[in-house]
This record gives sequence, C-alpha cells and structure tokens, in this order.
Amino acid sequence: METRILGTTEADIRLAAEMIQKGGLVAFPTETVYGLGADALNAEAVGKVYAAKGRPSDNPMIVHIAQKSDMNKLTDGITPEVERLMEAFWPGPLTMVVPAKDVIPRVTTGGLATVGVRMPEDAIARALISAAGVPIAAPSANLSGKPSPTRYIHVAEDLDGRIDAIIAGDDCKAGIESTVVDMTGEVPTILRPGVITREMLREALNGEVAVDPALFEKPDIFNNDGNGLLQTGADFHPKAPGMKYKHYAPRAQMIIFSGEREKVKLAMAEEKMRRAAQGQKVEVIVYDDADPQTAAHDFFARLRACDKKGVDVILAAALKEDGIGFAVMNRMFKSAGYHIKEVL
Ligand code: TXA
Ligand code: MG
Repeated sequence: METRILGTTEADIRLAAEMIQKGGLVAFPTETVYGLGADALNAEAVGKVYAAKGRPSDNPMIVHIAQKSDMNKLTDGITPEVERLMEAFWPGPLTMVVPAKDVIPRVTTGGLATVGVRMPEDAIARALISAAGVPIAAPSANLSGKPSPTRYIHVAEDLDGRIDAIIAGDDCKAGIESTVVDMTGEVPTILRPGVITREMLREALNGEVAVDPALFEKPDIFNNDGNGLLQTGADFHPKAPGMKYKHYAPRAQMIIFSGEREKVKLAMAEEKMRRAAQGQKVEVIVYDDADPQTAAHDFFARLRACDKKGVDVILAAALKEDGIGFAVMNRMFKSAGYHIKEVL
C-alpha cells in the first residue's frame, strides 16, 4: 500500500476524511501524540488499525470526538463528574472511560463494556473528525512497543506502506499521551497519567481522585520471550489493558539513575566513561527537575533520535515523581524495562 503524505489545507483534510469514511487509516496530529485514525463505528476499519500497529486486540482504542455534544452518541454515562471534567478540560489531553453504548463495536473497546473518549484540542484533529462526520478511533500512531510519535516523520518511520495517509502537521505540543481517567467507579481513577495531573482533576471536581495502584508498581523482571507482556513476581493487573504491555522501548538498552541530582550526575558520568572505554556508544539524558513539561515534550523524540544515531546505552536521570513528572517517569520506567539504579 502506498502511504500518502498530506498537508493541512482544507482540501487535504477533506481527502483524509473521505479515506476515513471509506474505512481507511489516516494518521493525524493531536496536542499529545500523533494518532492512527479509523472510523470508530466501523469494526472492519478498526480491525485494520490493530493489524497496522501489530497491537494486541485486547487493548482498547480511544474514541475521539469533535464536539462535546457527540459524547451522547457514545455513552449514557454522563454523570455530573463527567460533565465537570468535560467543562474543565475539553478540548484537551484528557480521556474519560465511561460505559459504552451498543453502537460502538466491541473491537473498538477491546471487548470491554466501557469506552475511552477524548475531545482533542488540536485544530487539525478536530477539523478531521468534523469532516469525517464519525467518531475516530485512534491509538498512538507507532508500531506497538515503539516510542509514541510526536512528529509526523516518526509516523512515517513506523507505518509507511501500512496505512493510507499521514497528515503532516506540527510537532505535538504535550509530547506524551492523554491522561486516562476511569469515571465508571465510585471514585474517578487515573489509569494513565498525563499532563492533566491528579491535582488538576481534584481541583476541577472538588473531590477525591484515585490512582490505579498498578501505576506505583515497578515490576522487576522484564519478559523478553516475545509476547511483549511485563512479567512480575507479584500480580500486575493494571486497569487500562495497554499498561501491561512492553512499551516505548528504544533499541538501545536504557538505565534510569535515581537519587539526589548531583550524585546521580556523577554516577552517570562514571558509568558513561566505563562503558565508552568498552567501545559502547552512550547517550546521557538529564532533564530539569523543575520543568517536567519540557521533558514530556522531548522524551519520545529523544529515544527515536538515539536509535537513529545507533546508541547502545541510554543513561537517564529520574525526575521527581509528582505532577507532570509522574507522567514522564511512567513512560521512562517502561522505556527502560524498569531497569533502575538507585544512587546512594
Ligand atoms: O493522547 C492520546 O490518548 C493518544 C492520542 C492519539 O489521542 N492516543 C493514545 O491511544 O495514546 P493508545 O491506544 O496508544 O492508548 C490508549 C490507552 C491504553 O492504555 C488503553 O488500554 C487505555 O487507553 N484505554 C482505552 N480505552 C479504555 C477502556 N475502555 N478502559 C480502560 N482503559 C482504556
Ligand atoms: Mg500507544
């Protein structure tokens, strides 16, 4: 299949929308990461998304809408809390998991009775959804297991020849995927952290917000037998199916150094010298602890750049795990296969 690279003119958007309507696959920019879109109500089209990405079929898609009123078409579960979060954060990088209406094919929800819905802020994304006239199911537009794409060229690297078109928009603003919050339980629960933080959700709801306990676990063995599942001694049962798979992995080995910053930097410099002396190509990643937003924006692109340069080992300094830093570290731990060095 030839993958067309489209611009962002009205004519381009119209063409992309027609491809979606015909059951095709189109990658498009959002404010978080690039998405790989298909008509969310067309089971066959959604099936092709799983195939193009090499994605396990129990991992549900996020369904994207262009207007708040479209939420009614997908769920009967618009509680006052859901409404508040729609008011506070839509359009934007927040996905809400709500009970799914029957119109949504089970292949879209990975067999679940719930659906994750998001109204993106990005103008191109919304123009595409509006023009298509259907909700668009879109996982991140990377091959399953690879770092999420934050530039259109990343999408081309992974999916050229496997999808119908890529809308070549700007680099993604946030750089990590949306916050996923489960609204179906007693207390709203964060299943995947993002740039919309627990604090922000609490404030908007004026109430408690929980975090899936699996997000605090750091499984210590990485299973490399090819099925891509994280293996742990204890049970590891994250509520978002996608959180249990191997993720965001660069080709390079990656090690996270955790501890007091100055000591961490010293330990990383020593490790770099030691490995370089053995002929390894080493990359060091240190982000400003006070600016996790920049880390979020840069991280996935940095991993891809390392692979391009043929880096053997990436040494990365851990960020403080609060606010957006918690979301960045969630990705960083996975990229490193939970390979963490505590620096004392
Ligand atoms: O920012 C984003 O969310 C991007 C852009 C394209 O919008 N999309 C994205 O999709 O990151 P994906 O498929 O790569 O990640 C979706 C995550 C997975 O961890 C999945 O398991 C979870 O959301 N998820 C989706 N629907 C769910 C549901 N009904 N219940 C629990 N988790 C769900
Ligand atoms: Mg993804």
